[in-house]
This record gives sequence, structure tokens and C-alpha cells, in this order.
Amino acid sequence: MPGNSRLVQSSQDGIHPSLQVLLARHLATPWRQPLADHSRLAFNSLSQWRRQRSECPLWMDSGCGTGRATVQLAEENPDVLVVGLDQSAARLERGRQRYPVLPDNALLLRAECADLWRLMVSAGWTLQRHYLLYPNPWPKPGHLQRRWHGHPVFPTLLALGGLLELRSNWSIYVDEMAQVLAFMGCSGSHGSFTASSPLTDFEEKYQHSDHSLYRLTYSLDCG
Ligand SMILES: C[S@@+](CC[C@H](N)C(=O)[O-])C[C@H]1O[C@@H](n2cnc3c(N)ncnc32)[C@H](O)[C@@H]1O
Repeated sequence: MPGNSRLVQSSQDGIHPSLQVLLARHLATPWRQPLADHSRLAFNSLSQWRRQRSECPLWMDSGCGTGRATVQLAEENPDVLVVGLDQSAARLERGRQRYPVLPDNALLLRAECADLWRLMVSAGWTLQRHYLLYPNPWPKPGHLQRRWHGHPVFPTLLALGGLLELRSNWSIYVDEMAQVLAFMGCSGSHGSFTASSPLTDFEEKYQHSDHSLYRLTYSLDCG
């Protein structure tokens, strides 16, 4: 089935020249934006859900959309807890209709990632795996701070630790993340890949549109 998804268009043709300076600023200055009350409530319900299960390792699918990867990962890995986070009530509602009964080790939660990650780190939580599957690319050069590696929450993402897996159809997003992680002393690899069976809706859509796909896996347990 051919798709009609457009390739990412950007006037940026390589790693953003301000990436290192921005990273240095974010590492030097803790991000103090106040946390929203609804984020605290979301973290409380996540904590309660987690307490009701044994102390299994925690995997997070941040920006999960309708939760397809969350469900698949949970089904394939019954010994871990998999949490799908998304800020979009509409996408999560579509997920609830699609998966009316979730595996017991899966949770779909409405929350803003940057807030929830900060609450998790403040509570001393760490992840075993963290999936960032097709995050919005924010391809305009002026939007660098909205990409996760250019965002002020980036040090918190690092502090959550675990094995980070990022997938994108924009190679520059993945190259930038790899550069920042290598600078931080983390190890891993990145490059193009073919998904034999799609893990997410966006992955499927991009495959049907013949887009190249890029993946990064890096250990964030790099001290
Ligand atoms: C391009 S979609 C990818 C969805 C899914 N991972 C997939 O591959 O099919 C990006 C998703 O990230 C969510 N998102 C973007 N920024 C977010 C944020 N700051 N906090 C939570 N969710 C966010 C959007 O609502 C959207 O569902």
C-alpha cells in the first residue's frame, strides 16, 4: 500500500551549529519551569499503578500516540512495566478504543513528557529502557530547543538513564542526538534501518511512503 507522507523539509542540512552551546547552557542551568498540577496528578496515578505491581523494571514509550508500541512491547516483555505517555487526549482515546483491554503490565497515561520526567527523577526513579519513537522533528532551525536533545529538560532525560531508543524519518534529528550523547560520554550506535514489521503507526506510514528510517540506541547509564 503506497503512502503519501511528505519527507521532512528543512533549511537545516546538517547538525545545528548552536547545538553544543545550547547543551552547555542546559547542563549549567537547571530548568525550573513550574510543574503543572495535572502533571503531579498524572505522576501520582503512575506511582499508584506501579506500586500495585511488583518492582519490575520500567520501560517508557514517551510520545506514544495511540500506544501501539506500548502494547506490543508489554506483550512481548511480560516481566517489565511499559508506560506510554502522550499529551494528546485525542490520540490516547483512539488508543483506548483500539486496545480496550491493555496487558496488565501496560499503562497509557496522558502527560507532558518534560513534566513527568522531572517528577520521576525527583522521586529517584530510573528507567531500564526509554523509547522516543518518531518524536515531532521540529525541523525549522529556530525550533532546535523543541527537539529533545535541545530542550532544557535534556539533562533530566539523561538522568532517567537506561537504554535509549530513538527512531525518526529525519536523519539530522538522530545525528544531533548521537552527537550530544557521545559528547556526554555515552556509548551506542545509530544509522538507517529497515523495520521488518512496524512498531508504530508513524513507522508504518513512513514505510508505506518509502521514507528512509533512522534509529539510535545508546546507553544513558554513562555516569
Ligand atoms: C509523530 S507522533 C508519534 C507517535 C508514535 N510514537 C508513533 O510513532 O506512531 C508524536 C507524538 O508525541 C506526542 N508528543 C509531542 N510532544 C509531547 C510532549 N511534550 N509530551 C507528551 N507527548 C508529546 C504527540 O501528541 C504525538 O502523539
